[in-house]
Amino acid sequence: MEEMTRDEALKLLRPLPVPQRLVGCHEIQQFTVSESAAKDFNRAEQPMFGGSGRYIEAGSYLRLVRHDPEDIGKPWLVVMSDTPAERMDHVEPVIHGQGHCLVLGLGIGMVTRALLEKPEVERVTVVERSDEVLDLVAATYLEKYGDRLEIVQADALEWKPKPGTRFGVVWCDIWDTIDPDNWPEYVKLTRRYQNRSDWRGCWAKAECWREVGYMRGYAEPPRSLPAFFMW
Ligand SMILES: C[S@@+](CC[C@H](N)C(=O)[O-])C[C@H]1O[C@@H](n2cnc3c(N)ncnc32)[C@H](O)[C@@H]1O
Repeated sequence: MEEMTRDEALKLLRPLPVPQRLVGCHEIQQFTVSESAAKDFNRAEQPMFGGSGRYIEAGSYLRLVRHDPEDIGKPWLVVMSDTPAERMDHVEPVIHGQGHCLVLGLGIGMVTRALLEKPEVERVTVVERSDEVLDLVAATYLEKYGDRLEIVQADALEWKPKPGTRFGVVWCDIWDTIDPDNWPEYVKLTRRYQNRSDWRGCWAKAECWREVGYMRGYAEPPRSLPAFFMW
C-alpha cells in the first residue's frame, strides 16, 4: 500500500468536538487565536531565527489545559491543542499507522482519532494516567469508535502490554514540555517497544536529545545506536 502524504495525515489530525468542561484541575476549552498573535508566533518560529518552521493561523481551536490545583484562577499550562503547529508535530505516527496501534497519552484524542480514521488501522489502545483527562475526553471517542478503541487508565511508564503483543505503531506523547530531565523516560519507552513495533516515535525526542547534549557539552549526538541508548 502507498504511504500516506504529510498533507493527507494533517487532514486527519482533527479532534472530535469534546465538550468544554472543567474537571479537577483539567479543562477543555475552545479558544481563539487572533491575527496578531499568529503573526508573533510565526515570526518567532521562522527557521532563520532558529525556529522550527511550525506555524499557526488565526482561528478557533480546542485545547486541554492544566490549572494550578491550588488556584484555578492562576495562569495555566496548555497540555495539548489542535493548532496547525501541534498538528504538524503528530503527522509521523499517522503516516505509519496500521494494524494495532498504541498511543501513550490521550490528550484531546487528536492522534487517536487520526489513526482510527485510517482503514488500515484495525484498532487503537490508549494508555492515559489522569482520571480527570479520561473523564473529560474518553467517552466522546469511545462512543464513536466502539470496540476498535480501548482506553486503559495507567501510568504509561509502568504499563506493559501482554507478552507477545505487537504493534504497527507506538506513539509516546506524555510530556508537557521539552525537558532534559525527561530523557530517561524517552529511553525507557523506546527500549520497551523497539522489538514490539513496526514503527515507534516520541513527541519532541530529537529536541530533547539536543537539550541533553547541550547540558552535557556534546556538540553532536553519539553516532552509534548503543551509545545513543546509553546516553
Ligand atoms: C500532550 S498530551 C497528549 C496529546 C495527544 N497526543 C493528542 O493527540 O491529543 C499528554 C497526555 O499524557 C498524559 N500523561 C502524562 N503523563 C502520563 C503517564 N505517565 N502515563 C500516561 N499518561 C500520561 C496527560 O494526562 C495528557 O493527557
